[in-house]
Amino acid sequence: MIGRNDLCWCGSGNKWKKCHFPQVPVQKTMTDALVAHYRKQGILIKTPEQMNGIRAAGKLTAEILDKTCAMAKAGVTTAELDKYTARLCKEAGAIAAALHYGEPPFPKSICTSLNEVVCHGIPDDVPLKEGDIVNIDIATILNGYYGDCSQMVVIGKTTPERQLVVDTSYECLMKAIEILRPGIPVCAIGEAIENHATSKNCSVVYQFVGHGVGVRFHEGPQVAHFMNKNQTLLAPGMTFTIEPMINAGVPEAVIDPINHWTARTKDGRASGQWEHTLLITEDGYEILTPWKRKH
Ligand code: MF3
Ligand code: CO
Repeated sequence: MIGRNDLCWCGSGNKWKKCHFPQVPVQKTMTDALVAHYRKQGILIKTPEQMNGIRAAGKLTAEILDKTCAMAKAGVTTAELDKYTARLCKEAGAIAAALHYGEPPFPKSICTSLNEVVCHGIPDDVPLKEGDIVNIDIATILNGYYGDCSQMVVIGKTTPERQLVVDTSYECLMKAIEILRPGIPVCAIGEAIENHATSKNCSVVYQFVGHGVGVRFHEGPQVAHFMNKNQTLLAPGMTFTIEPMINAGVPEAVIDPINHWTARTKDGRASGQWEHTLLITEDGYEILTPWKRKH
């Protein structure tokens, strides 16, 4: 049996799925039956009212992320960044979604993941120093709706390896976003990311994935950042994150046995990550967390 990624039988030189693969008609208008079909898979197709709520939460989360990233400088501790985010959330009438989330309860309002930390780093009293790269991941709840996003900050000038994962993880996120539209399978996202990461001699973390988000913190679908076979088709009204974690060395991550959260690369080499919350629209996508890259 010919695979979706094999060359098409017609001799065009294109992959089968981009050529004579039998296409499923693109659903631009969602029917009740289709919404129910997605719902059974844990995927919530949002109503216009929910889209507006998630758009507002996403905008606020992105603004808070931009402000927090601007505070990240040599000598500042990640605990200070965490306190600052907590204050901004409170002032905006929002809740930091990470605080007390999961089991054991996450102890802080944001994740700060430095250098070889893949994700879920816990803010502490160690000051940032020249050459560090840090991912700042913020999720907030505003009027019951969730936004989730992250950026990397480079402290001063860093090493070529660290800069490589900062740049490559950003490019992977953007290349995956560019292909979004109704009718493409979820696996196209992982394919775009892995192809780019591999071209830069980087690896893709497979133990953590993006996720549906908006009405709850983590909804379906799971959005793998690596090659996979998820044939679920994107449809208007879906909201989810893409948050590729890209490593300079091996893809494996190991969770801290003491705090049960912090994930580090197995080989201690650098890891980078950027994250957006996206909405699938009738003709493409909308970035719901419009932060501005500065590093
Ligand atoms: N973007 C991260 C995620 O979806 C945010 C994690 S917050 C935490 O996993 F509380 F789970 F750490
Ligand atoms: Co997320």
